[in-house]
Amino acid sequence: MKQYRVAILGATGAVGQEFLRLFARRQFPVSAVRLLASERSSGKLLKFKSHNVPVQAVSADAFDAVDIAFFSAGSEAARQWAPIALQKGAVVIDNSSAFRMDEGVPLVVPEINWHVVRPSHRLFPVGNCTAIILMMAVAPLRKFGRIARIVASSYQSVSGAGARAMQELERQTRELADSKPLTPQVFPFPIAGNLFSHNTPINEFGYNQEEWKVIQETRKTLESPGLAIEITCVRVPVLRAHSLSINVQFDGPAPAVGAMREAYEAFPGIKLVDDRQNNTFPMPIQAAGEEDVLVGRIRQDATNPNCVSVFACGDQLLKGAALNALQIAEKLAAQELIAEPLASQ
Ligand SMILES: NC(=O)c1ccc[n+]([C@@H]2O[C@H](COP(=O)([O-])OP(=O)(O)OC[C@H]3O[C@@H](n4cnc5c(N)ncnc54)[C@H](OP(=O)(O)O)[C@@H]3O)[C@@H](O)[C@H]2O)c1
Repeated sequence: MKQYRVAILGATGAVGQEFLRLFARRQFPVSAVRLLASERSSGKLLKFKSHNVPVQAVSADAFDAVDIAFFSAGSEAARQWAPIALQKGAVVIDNSSAFRMDEGVPLVVPEINWHVVRPSHRLFPVGNCTAIILMMAVAPLRKFGRIARIVASSYQSVSGAGARAMQELERQTRELADSKPLTPQVFPFPIAGNLFSHNTPINEFGYNQEEWKVIQETRKTLESPGLAIEITCVRVPVLRAHSLSINVQFDGPAPAVGAMREAYEAFPGIKLVDDRQNNTFPMPIQAAGEEDVLVGRIRQDATNPNCVSVFACGDQLLKGAALNALQIAEKLAAQELIAEPLASQ
């Protein structure tokens, strides 16, 4: 089996850590790895499979002889380093929003739109994590007819904002228990015992940046440029795994609940959690660390015969980021779409 030389930029971050775990768990064939981050982390040792590997500060040379570069270091670093990695012949799979909406660049969720990938594609942005979980819950329903409108609300965990945000929730939870004042450092407001509208800037239409990304990116990946999507994104005091309440409107009558359950059970990457008798439905605590997106609370909308409602939870560090990225690499490898890098040594 072919082995790949990989670089992970952002290896010390929340998504980076998931990459390290996934490489071991999914046994992606790696012959050499470079773990990259900022100068701050240079020399830190991280476990990759069974080896301790020192983190290097990212530099142009770090992308020499790399087959696949996985990026999870934010948009600024992606804009700086992706062109260099590509020029050196690597395939770049990037978790930031830097290139997602670029013309001619595919925005791939492998279970949903792998057919858009061409051998000439070398740059693969991974979509917004909330959009990916939303789409995983909506895509299996497309077989029942054209989807006219989606209305959703998100309940987004702090890990969506990175490793420091997770530490902030842990610290504030202790402060709350000790009746001490809560001290926000990463988020603009206290997060323990609280929730707030997603902490990204509001645009001229009144949507925050997260909501706008979900709308645009969902339309791109689902290849439905005119799809009506209404979403409200909210940050909640959950450590990891995002949740979404979703209402889907079809052009015609909505499918039966049983048919929807079957569609979800047959769809790769979905786990059905829909136990009405025991009032047990998807929960972020169950979704955390799970590769599958959990879907349940499946019902026909009593107010509109064309609508259904579902609830979904997904570990956005996995399916919303590192796992989706690795799945892209696995598919490229299986189809032999990863060429030798130009600067191979
Ligand atoms: N968290 C999620 O659920 C999630 C989901 C989907 C996509 N994403 C995206 O994934 C990326 C990383 O998110 P995260 O949550 O893992 O963030 P994080 O925990 O804050 O980690 C950021 C990582 O990027 C590195 N980094 C930051 N600036 C850099 C620079 N200028 N040069 C080199 N390395 C730099 C950091 O290195 P140091 O340790 O040296 O600072 C760290 O390894 C972001 O683009 C984010 O939007 C995140």
